[in-house]
Order: sequence, then structure tokens, then C-alpha cells
Amino acid sequence: MAAEQSAGPLDSAFYQPADTFFPAQAGLALTYDDLTLSTLYSEILPRNASLDTELAGGLRLHLPVISADMDTVTESRMATGMALNGGLGLIHYNMPEKQQLKEVSRVKNHVHGLIQEPITVTPDKTVGDVIELIETKRYSFSTFPVVGADRKLVGLLSGNVLKPRYAAKQVTSALVPRDQVQTIRESQLGADPIAIADQFFTDHPGINKLLVVNDSDELCGLFTLSDIERITTEKLSQFRPTRDDHFRLLCGVAVSTPRNAAGELDRERIESHVGALIERGADVVAVSTAHGHSKGVGDAVALIRAAYPELPIIAGNVTTAAGVDYLADSGANIIKIGQGPGSICTTRLVAGVGIPQMTALYVASQAAKARGVSLLADGGITKSGDIVKALTLTDGVICGGLLAGCPETPGQVMEISGKLYKQYRGMGSLAAMKSGSAARYGHAPRDANRKVAAEGIEALKEVSENLDQLLAQLIGGVQAGMGYLGAATLPDLRAKARYTRISPAGQKEAAPHDVVEMKASS
Ligand code: XMP
Repeated sequence: MAAEQSAGPLDSAFYQPADTFFPAQAGLALTYDDLTLSTLYSEILPRNASLDTELAGGLRLHLPVISADMDTVTESRMATGMALNGGLGLIHYNMPEKQQLKEVSRVKNHVHGLIQEPITVTPDKTVGDVIELIETKRYSFSTFPVVGADRKLVGLLSGNVLKPRYAAKQVTSALVPRDQVQTIRESQLGADPIAIADQFFTDHPGINKLLVVNDSDELCGLFTLSDIERITTEKLSQFRPTRDDHFRLLCGVAVSTPRNAAGELDRERIESHVGALIERGADVVAVSTAHGHSKGVGDAVALIRAAYPELPIIAGNVTTAAGVDYLADSGANIIKIGQGPGSICTTRLVAGVGIPQMTALYVASQAAKARGVSLLADGGITKSGDIVKALTLTDGVICGGLLAGCPETPGQVMEISGKLYKQYRGMGSLAAMKSGSAARYGHAPRDANRKVAAEGIEALKEVSENLDQLLAQLIGGVQAGMGYLGAATLPDLRAKARYTRISPAGQKEAAPHDVVEMKASS
């Protein structure tokens, strides 16, 4: 192995480590595009760079990316997708508490590869009815479990019989009867249902559906051979889902901190809701506000910490060392850094406050090191290169806008002039505050109905590729960055990063220029 090449004096004069670079810029706040990282001698192939991150409080992720707790970004579908890719989703709180519990359960009960609520048909239908159902609903599959009104399994209707010539036949006369359908008891699935299903399909050549039933023979799920094959191939890949000790996906959730009639934190309600979230399996809660260095936020974090000493708590947002100290003192393990960098944020314009991200991250990182808390860079990430830069000072990033065009976000797709869009709005926009997030911006819920200063906008994002594809691109970019710095792990990346500022001309040079772009890179 070649000896590691260290930077010579000339390089060191121009490309400096964080502790030299950032103090030298004191008085001028910098963000991602204001600086670049210098490359270093490397023996690391990008595909071998590990993105594992361990956050304080014992949260281990295989991908240091978290989807934002925003009502146009993270509900159970996004949180499930993030955990399946090794990251984490933070379910937002602009919904009734009961619904939030259900959203958490959906993620925690998700069995990858098991379709938990398969589309079924009832025995009283005709084959023609089922053909019509497929056409109107545009289903891409054509095999249906048949269940009675009591949810008990009656049989399986195979795609082979869904032909117009059989249209008049009753489903009951066309189905494979119950005693010939391959099933498995839910209780037999054990800790690794995929391995069980995989073995079943190997043992039964020609069978490509396995139905799951409970002890009363009611249908509870469906495995398909093609899903299992895709998952077993994925298992060989480097990025594994993030799971808890019971093999369930990790799930984070943002909690609101309601106040009682006297204006005090509603201790009972907060404690009981957080308790119910933990019971459902939530792995971490987030107290997300625009100003984390404030009494209300500190009190809320302290209240949750006292009630649940072992629970990992994310809190924010702050941009100062004193803010990090305050939230760490209050009991937070993981602190969100970012005030005003978000793509839909107007805090800096409306309130005249907030710090460009890289400077805020550096200042916060000094306090975090001393306090043993982890940091998340929250907002302003628009490309994988920003993630690499953020990870030189933090343990993970939170993304909103970057993920907001994915099909996995809540909300409808809309078509405008032939292009497809999804809504993306700031939690401090008037519309979101009316839906519940007013407290996050220091307003009482009733304030949202009168004129308050919004600190976010309502916007649209063009519909993007799906989450798996988008994250694969981001992961590739981050690993490339680590390869350029010779960093095998994220701690290596933090130790090796050397920075320099770039001029406006340098920024222009960094993006494609002086060409007619035919195909944008994703
Ligand atoms: P990106 O850039 O990923 O930012 O879209 C997402 C982050 O922005 C924060 N956020 C807001 N900040 N007004 C703000 O000043 C808002 O209305 C708003 N909504 C979200 C939040 O930290 C999120 O993770």
C-alpha cells in the first residue's frame, strides 16, 4: 500500500482545515456555494465509502439523510422509503395526534415485500366485474385473493381466467379454491419474513404468490415472487434499511408542544402523546421550531427528557454555539442547525435573522464537540455536493425541497402546461400554519387566522424520479466526494476536509457553462 501523501506547505497555505479556515473568515458568513473542498491523495473507491452515521442517543443510520418534518414531505410513505434506503423520515405534526400515531404504526409495521392490504375481490362478483375493476383502477397486476364478507380467504383468482370469454362466469366458479391456495400463517413469519418467503418460493417452483393468513384464516397479506427477488438482490447491496432491535424500520416523528389555557406547556398532553408514540415504536422525536434557543423550546425538551430519559430527542433550530449548549442542557441529543436557508424559507427576509449554513455549522460544531451532541444540517441542500460539504461538520442532513417532488410525498400531482408538479410549502407559510404549525413560528394557533408574518412560502416542485432513484443519485455523489478526499468513513471525511472560498467566477465555473445543455444530469 502506498504511503499516505500528506498535504505540503503550499497546499496547506491555500486549502485549510476547518479550525483554520472558518475563524479566518469570522465576520463573513458563508454557505455551501461560497466554498469548495480540496481533493486529497486517495486509495478509496467511491463505492467502498461507508455512509454509516451514529447519532447521539444511539440512533444508527446507514445513510446520513433525513426527510424533513414538513406536511408536504414526510408521512408514512416517505418515512418508510427513507428507512428502506438506510436513512430516516420525520413524520410532521400538522395532523391530529391520533392520525400521527397511525402514521408511525404504518412505518413500524411495514414488512418490506409483504403487501399488507392486498386488493381483494368478493365471491359474488363476475369475472367481467373484475376485468372492469382492473381497467377503471388501472391496476398493473391481475391476480386477486378472493375473500368473503368475514375477511376469510375463499380462494385466489388468477390472471389466466380474466378473459372476456369468461366474463359472465361467477368468480366462485373461476377461482383456485382455498384448499389449493398456498398460504402461510402470520405467526410463522418470524423475525425475517423475507427469508421465509424466499425459501418458500425456492421450495415451490412455479408458484409466484404466497398469501398470509391469521389463525382465523383471514387474509393479512401477500408476497409475490418478483418483489422477493428484487429485495434479495437489494440485500447484497451496500445500503441496508435502518431497523430497530425488532427488525422494524426506524421512524422519527415531530411533536407539537401545545399550551393550556393558562399559556403553560400542556405537560399532560405532551407526555401522553409522546408516550403513545413510543408505544407505537417511534425511535426518535423532534421538537422543531424556528427558534430553538428559546425558553418554550428548552422547557418542552426538558419536559420530554424528564418523562422519557432514554428517548433520543432532536431539537432545533439554532445557529449559535450558545443555542447548541442550551438545547444540550435541556436534554436534546441531536440538534438541528439552520435558520432561514430552506428553499421555501423567508425568515431572513421577514425577520432579518439567520446565518448562512457553513458558518452556522462550523460554529455549532465547536459547541457540539464539547457537549457530545450530534448535529444535523437542516435546509438549503440542493445537490449532493452540498451534502458532502455539510457532512464535513455534521453527522447528517435534513432535506425538504430536494425530496419534495418524489411520488412518496403526501399530496396530489397536478399538471400545469403539460408539466407535472407537487405542492411544497414552508411550515411557516400561512396555509401550513393554519393547518397546525403556527407554534413552530412562535404564534398561537388562533393567530394563524389573522394577519401574522409568514416565514415561508407555498411553492411547487416539478415531479421527480422516485425516492429510491433520487437517493441512489445522492448517495453516488456523496461517495464520489468521499473518494476525492480519500475518506473511507464519515469521521474520516470530517478529519480530512480542507476548504477554500470561491469567487463568483469560480461559482460560475463550477456549473455547466458555455454549452447548450441537451440533457440535465439528475
Ligand atoms: P429545504 O431547503 O430542504 O429546507 O427545502 C427544509 C427546511 O426548511 C425549514 N423550514 C422553514 N423555514 N420558514 C422557514 O424559515 C418556513 O416556512 C419553513 N418550513 C420549513 C425546516 O427546517 C426544513 O427542514
